[in-house]
Amino acid sequence: MAKKYTVLETWIVNETKPEGSSSTEQTYERMSQQGGGRLPVIDVPMDFREESHFYDEARIRDFAAHLAGADDVLDVGPGDGWPLLRIAPFFRTVTGVEPSQKRIDVCQANAEKLGLSNVTLKRMSVTELDLPDSSFSGAVAGSSIEQTADPYLALSEVFRVLKPGAKFRVSFEPFDRLDKGFSEDLFLTETEDSLGYHYVLKHHQPPWERNYLVKFNKTEGVKESFARLTDLIERLGPNPSQNPELGLQFLERHQGDIAGSTWYELEHFTSVTMKETLEEVGFTDVRIAFSAAVLARTMWPRVKDSDLTEEQTKHVLQGLADVAVRMDAPAGLGEPVVATKPS
Ligand SMILES: C[S@@+](CC[C@H](N)C(=O)[O-])C[C@H]1O[C@@H](n2cnc3c(N)ncnc32)[C@H](O)[C@@H]1O
Repeated sequence: MAKKYTVLETWIVNETKPEGSSSTEQTYERMSQQGGGRLPVIDVPMDFREESHFYDEARIRDFAAHLAGADDVLDVGPGDGWPLLRIAPFFRTVTGVEPSQKRIDVCQANAEKLGLSNVTLKRMSVTELDLPDSSFSGAVAGSSIEQTADPYLALSEVFRVLKPGAKFRVSFEPFDRLDKGFSEDLFLTETEDSLGYHYVLKHHQPPWERNYLVKFNKTEGVKESFARLTDLIERLGPNPSQNPELGLQFLERHQGDIAGSTWYELEHFTSVTMKETLEEVGFTDVRIAFSAAVLARTMWPRVKDSDLTEEQTKHVLQGLADVAVRMDAPAGLGEPVVATKPS
């Protein structure tokens, strides 16, 4: 299907001539923290009265339960440490492969803060793993495979470094439930040298994403304009086509301060296309399996006002994860996939 261009995108392409980049370089290297700096345990103390914390623990136990029996586990693209640092207590060693030096630095600092001694971080792309065949007895990926330039190669490399019989639990940003059409997003970043205007365009069916960064010189005037833009995005929502003052008007007004631009494109997945790709790569027993977080959702109304201790809550979630491991999910819900390297 022909790829359409929005008016804003056409302006960025014609006026700023973006150079090709990657998600690592353009997005993850520029973020100060991931998850809004609110990752439970990693950034803030676990609080089971918070619904999102309850689901986070369910997701962690889901990864661990699918890999039960593994000792050395690979995490693809852990960013600031999710799920790497949270699953570390369940295994002998955990290794994160992450191409962004910024994310590695943050993740390393988080590992030290948590006192974890079985975590190794390697600065490398999953599409080019400098690791021997059959090194790991399990692998996980959290929203990272679809952030690589070549997801097929990424999955092939995970396959290569897994031992026969090892399991791979993959969660991803699912495009299953999105209606036909586009969605747009806008977010801002700041580094030492530049202010970043990021425009993201997602096409739902078939699923892909184009991502642009327009870099601005950090003059006092541009800093003030970015502060006003932050406020406008909060009030109006991040949709520059509906609100031209966030889009074309802003870029045209500040065109003289543009210091360069880059772009990249991503291929996204539904649970069915993730399953099919894993099978193409050679994995067997590939299943779409309900995340324990889905079961946790049904449980939340009962536990939220209970007087369960933290230990008892973890015990409940472990039970849910052990059940979820065996529950196949129907296609179309965007549930994660689990696959096995044949023996
Ligand atoms: C959406 S973030 C997810 C981070 C973390 N797993 C989480 O769920 O919070 C995607 C991560 O994938 C990493 N990534 C991008 N390209 C990669 C590649 N080629 N190999 C390994 N990781 C990559 C990014 O640097 C980033 O940390």
